[in-house]
Amino acid sequence: MAEARNPAGLAGPEEDTIIKMVGLKKSFGPHTVLRGVDLDVPRGRVTCIIGRSGEGKSVLIKHVLGLIEPDAGDVLVDGESMIHCSQRERRRRLRRFGMLFQNGALFDSMSAFDNVAFPLRESGQKMSRKELAERVEAKLEQVGLQGVGAKYPGQLSGGQRKRVGLARAIALDPEILLYDEPTTGLDPVRTHAVDEMILNTARDLNITSVVITHDMQAVHEIADVVAMLYGGVIHVRCDAATLRDHPSEVVQSFLHGRPMADASTGQLVQD
Ligand SMILES: Nc1ncnc2c1ncn2[C@@H]1O[C@H](COP(=O)(O)OP(=O)(O)OP(=O)(O)O)[C@@H](O)[C@H]1O
Ligand SMILES: [Mg+2]
Repeated sequence: MAEARNPAGLAGPEEDTIIKMVGLKKSFGPHTVLRGVDLDVPRGRVTCIIGRSGEGKSVLIKHVLGLIEPDAGDVLVDGESMIHCSQRERRRRLRRFGMLFQNGALFDSMSAFDNVAFPLRESGQKMSRKELAERVEAKLEQVGLQGVGAKYPGQLSGGQRKRVGLARAIALDPEILLYDEPTTGLDPVRTHAVDEMILNTARDLNITSVVITHDMQAVHEIADVVAMLYGGVIHVRCDAATLRDHPSEVVQSFLHGRPMADASTGQLVQD
């Protein structure tokens, strides 16, 4: 049996894939962002997606939720398409997901409590007010924010807002959590706390996690699999240790913050 923390090194058939991205292509007008993305996401693991700003990481993850329709290709979750299905089916399939958007995207006019309660109320689950309150408090506590329910987003720090967003994302106990840059803009202490939370959530609840991040420290701490998006395709998919010593010049340039050639034009670019 291969080592459990190193699924990227496993031979294909041994890996239990939950999300399968197949040949995803997407252009916005003349601007091609995805040129054929193939990526398997293993069940119950943490997969980090890295890549320079503007490479299409957020666009890619929105395809997974069926929020953006690709020009070609598909996203399969346990074999079910997130793209080629009715709205009703998609809504049903989306219940398996929790999403932490890049900007946090809290409702500013709602308290932290109501933000976390929102998906619970929307889900149509029958729940008494007491049950709802207990559930929301439990989720806030899970992210280390017990007692802040009455505060509004404007009264919370950036780190606290991210955590309210996470509490909302896990409110419905999703099987799959997608995080778009959960730690960008946080100080190192908060960054570490959020990374720990992602890891604990993944491990304790056995949740499949896909984390878009720029933070290589986080990749080394939390990733079972790391995939690098470059030039509209997955340039490398491996485990974090393999990435560090990867022979690809593109990978090494990214890791060391050096300018890279633009894959679409061959021109040297600097972010
Ligand atoms: N709805 C849209 N309409 C037109 N262009 C878009 C749209 N969404 C994204 N893009 C373009 O697609 C490219 C990739 O954007 P995306 O937000 O996915 O990058 P990213 O890799 O997430 O970057 P960052 O690390 O800065 O978040 C960008 O050039 C962006 O301007
Ligand atoms: Mg982004």
